Amino acid sequence: MVQTKTDLMSTIVSLCKRRGFVFQASEIYGGVGNTYDYGPLGVELKRRVKDAWWSRIVTARNDVVGLDSAIIQNPRVWEVSGHVGGFSDPMVDCKKCKGRFRADKLEDARCPEKPSKVPGQCAGELTEPRSFNLMFKTHVGPVEGTGAVAYLRPETAQGIFLNFKNVLESARIKPPFGIAQIGKSFRNEITPGNFVFRTREFEQAEMEFFVPPAENDQWFEYWRKERFEWYVDLGIRRENLRLRDHDSDELAHYSTACSDVEYEYPFGWGELEGIACRTDFDLKRHSEGSGTDLVYFDPQTKEKYTPYVIEPAGGIDRMALTFLIDAYEEEELEKDTRAVLRFHPEIAPTTVAVFPLVKKEGMPEKAHEIEAMLRRSRYSTFYDEKAAIGRRYRRQDEVGTPFCVTIDGDTLEKDVVTVRDRDSMEQVNVAVPELLAWLDEAIRNWKRVR
Ligand code: GLY
Repeated sequence: MVQTKTDLMSTIVSLCKRRGFVFQASEIYGGVGNTYDYGPLGVELKRRVKDAWWSRIVTARNDVVGLDSAIIQNPRVWEVSGHVGGFSDPMVDCKKCKGRFRADKLEDARCPEKPSKVPGQCAGELTEPRSFNLMFKTHVGPVEGTGAVAYLRPETAQGIFLNFKNVLESARIKPPFGIAQIGKSFRNEITPGNFVFRTREFEQAEMEFFVPPAENDQWFEYWRKERFEWYVDLGIRRENLRLRDHDSDELAHYSTACSDVEYEYPFGWGELEGIACRTDFDLKRHSEGSGTDLVYFDPQTKEKYTPYVIEPAGGIDRMALTFLIDAYEEEELEKDTRAVLRFHPEIAPTTVAVFPLVKKEGMPEKAHEIEAMLRRSRYSTFYDEKAAIGRRYRRQDEVGTPFCVTIDGDTLEKDVVTVRDRDSMEQVNVAVPELLAWLDEAIRNWKRVR
C-alpha cells in the first residue's frame, strides 16, 4: 500500500499510542503542549538506542570516557558560556490572535485561526522580531529572588567542559580524547512539533572530543563520517540520510563549522544530529570566567594548549523516531497487508516472542521455561498464548520483534522449536540447546531487507 507522507506520520503516531511506544503527557488532563511520555515499548526502544550509542562511542573505544553531570549548574556557567546572552530565537507576535511564532520559520507555522495561512498572510499583523531566550529559568531554594535564579541546562555539553580538568586528572587520558554524556536537556522552543521530533524536554547524547588544534580538521572529518555510518549500521537506509554543512548564518554562537546528519522525514529533511567544531571557545570562556586554567600540558612536548573540540550531538528522542519511521513498512502479501517494523535486532524493544502453539498438552509450561531461559540471557522476551498463531506473528511484526519462537508437539517430543523470522517470514527448526547460539548468529548476520 502506498502511503502519503502525511499518512505515514499519523500512522506512526497512532501505532505509538496503540502499542505503547509513546503517550501524550498529562493526557487525562488534556495534555501539555508537545510533551510526551514513553510507554513500555518506547522506553525499551529508547534504552536500546542509548545503549547502541554508548557502546559505539564509549565502550568500544579506548579514547572516550563517560560522564553524568547535573542538570542545574551554577547560573554563572550559562552567562559565561554565552547562553544567557546568545541562546535565543527571533520571535514575532500576532497582534490579532496573540500567537507567537519563530520569525525565521514562519513558512512552517500556521495561523491558529486560519490554519490554511501562514502567520502574517492571514488578517493578523505581526510585531517586529524580538529575541527570545530558550532557557528555562527556575529558582533554587525557597526564596524567589534574583540571587536564587537557576537554569535547566539547554545542552549537556557544558557539564562536560566544567569537568574537563577533573576527567583529565582522574582518567589519565590525553588529547585526542572524548567525554560522552546522555541526559535530559530543556529548551523553551517557540514552535515545538512533529511529534517527538522537537519537544521542550528532550534527551541528548553528546560527546566533546578534545584535540590538539592542528588536528581539528582531520577529526571533524572523522566524526562526520563515523556518525553517519552509525545510523546506516543500525539499519537506517542510506538513501534517506545526508550530511549537510551549515551555512555561516546557521551556526550556533560557539561553533565555526557544523555538519548535520539529516534524515528525510515525512515532513521534509530534518536534523538528526549535528557535528560541530566548537574550537577552544568553551574551555577558554570557562578558564576566564572561573579563574581555573582549563588547559592541557603535554609532558612529552612540554607544550601547553587549550584543546579544540569536535562535538557530535544528537537527540535520543529524534533518533528513536527516526528508527521507527525508517523501519515501518506495509507489505502487500498474497491475501492481505501486514504492518512491520524492520528494526535492527539490537534496536528492537523485544528480541524474541515465545508462543505455545496451543494452550494445552504441556506447551504453555514448556514455552514459559524456554522464555525464562532466553530472558536470563541477554534477550528481552514477550510471552503470548492468546489468539491464532498467525495473529500473534502479526502483532509482533507491528512492534518489530525480529524472532518468534513457537513451542509445538516437536518441542515436547524432540526438544526442537520453530523460529520464525520477521523479515522473510520463513520458519526453521532449531534444537533448544542451540537456540541461544542460533539467535546470536542471526543477530550478528542481520541485514536490512528493502
Ligand atoms: N550541544 C549542541 C546542542 O545542544 O545542540
